[in-house]
Amino acid sequence: MKPHLLALAIAFGCLASPAEAQRIEATVTLRADPDSPTIDPNIYGQFVEHLGRGVYEGVWVGENSPIPNVRGIRSDVVAALRRIRTPLVRWPGGCFAELYHWRDGVGPRGERPLSVNTAWGDEPETNAFGTHEFMDFVEQIGAKPFLAINVASGSPGEAQAWLQYMTAAPDSSAGQARARDGRQAPYQVPFIGVGNENWGCGGNMTAAHYADVYRQYYAVLRTYGTLVVADANSDDYDWTETVLRRALYRHAKPTPHAYINRNPLIQMMSLHYYTLAGDDWADKGPGVGFTERHWALALQRAYRMDEIITRHSRIMDRFDPERHIALSVNEWGTWWQAADGRPSNLYQANTLRDGVIAGMTLNIFQNHAARVRMANIAQMVNVLQAMILTRGAEMIVTPTYHVFDLYQVHQGNRLAPVQVRSPNYGYEGVRVPAISASASRSADGAVFVSLVNIDPDKPARVVVRAPGQSISRATGRVMTADAMDARPDFGAPDPLAPIPLTDVAVKDGAVEVVLPAKSVAVVEIR
Ligand code: AHR
Repeated sequence: MKPHLLALAIAFGCLASPAEAQRIEATVTLRADPDSPTIDPNIYGQFVEHLGRGVYEGVWVGENSPIPNVRGIRSDVVAALRRIRTPLVRWPGGCFAELYHWRDGVGPRGERPLSVNTAWGDEPETNAFGTHEFMDFVEQIGAKPFLAINVASGSPGEAQAWLQYMTAAPDSSAGQARARDGRQAPYQVPFIGVGNENWGCGGNMTAAHYADVYRQYYAVLRTYGTLVVADANSDDYDWTETVLRRALYRHAKPTPHAYINRNPLIQMMSLHYYTLAGDDWADKGPGVGFTERHWALALQRAYRMDEIITRHSRIMDRFDPERHIALSVNEWGTWWQAADGRPSNLYQANTLRDGVIAGMTLNIFQNHAARVRMANIAQMVNVLQAMILTRGAEMIVTPTYHVFDLYQVHQGNRLAPVQVRSPNYGYEGVRVPAISASASRSADGAVFVSLVNIDPDKPARVVVRAPGQSISRATGRVMTADAMDARPDFGAPDPLAPIPLTDVAVKDGAVEVVLPAKSVAVVEIR
């Protein structure tokens, strides 16, 4: 079409303007569901492992450090984690948990053994950060502990002794031992993971063998807290099916005693799923300086979380249609090429892409709130998709942290199920919905909608409707940047710090939001 005819066509509304043609148009409709589940705050859980600079430097600097600390735990990291209302921390691993002997980490620090972290690079392990230091850390943050028990190189007896030491009354022998090490009052340990990746570093077990081992641990540990069945590997649905079949009930065959049949041994199951951008574990893809191909592949793989949860949940539904058993995503996050030349440190850059993946993954967890009641991002500081990075005394928060900050308004709210109509974002063979969303209602009547535009080039106009609700105002905050790999750096202003959404308005009873390309936003509607 000739330029003047094109201009006339646009002016008379016959064609979209070039800017509009470049814009994504999507709708998000909130469904009214009086029975919708609560969003468990524990889906915002964290994971910290003795690995690289995750614990040492990231959390523990020691009492004599010039870095400000309380009893050896760095204060800047504690303050940052408090700000986002971190509900739960999983420790001490990971694969490290399967080599960890808790007695090495209690008693006078100067007398603790120096061991070797054979799970991660044969680094020296001073055991300076042990049970009491971890519990002090979670208490400083205001979070709950989630202990991962050593199944591969430990025993039910060692695990039971650890739980007794932590939880026994002060007048018992175990309680007195704890008091001698500095803590009179018993600790609470609400979550206990029975192993870690027991199909791999946790003992190379078959699902059937693990199920039988779990039954034994259940008999010994069941009174201490909620036990968590360890970790199906991504789409290993057989693991979930086999463990449920072999370990859900004390007796595989129905017995005349209905009480025994109905008294399940499993309250929580879990899975692990990581997002790569390269072709396989040998080529995980770059964490910075990547192309749009790496952006698209990573987003496509992160979206798989929805399918993986759906299919594990479907198996659980057959055994537990009323959804008493919770699903935890015990480890999740991005896993890129190492950024510090020391692969076993798992230190990597955290860019806008990580933030976008965090936003759409948390939307998936929230939309599965009926089953997913815990998740722990890997990991908290200086490891994989970290919330926080440190360099000696310096600390920065990452785009992933900003997303946890934006989304904290959902914690404990009721899910508002959403129907999303969105065109696909496409690149080469990748086709995935451009807009991801989830929503919740707070007790005081506010509605919070989380929106992610994964398209790296096109802004999106999203119309949010909440039938049956009168809307008078809408405000929001957004995280975005020009470059796909924009990231914070030490000593420089943070280019990803969320800013107020300027293009949000109430029109005809709905909310219209314009999301920048590659952005994560949370809108509050009243
Ligand atoms: O998070 C790093 C490692 O990833 C954990 O130790 C292990 O459980 C998983 O394979």
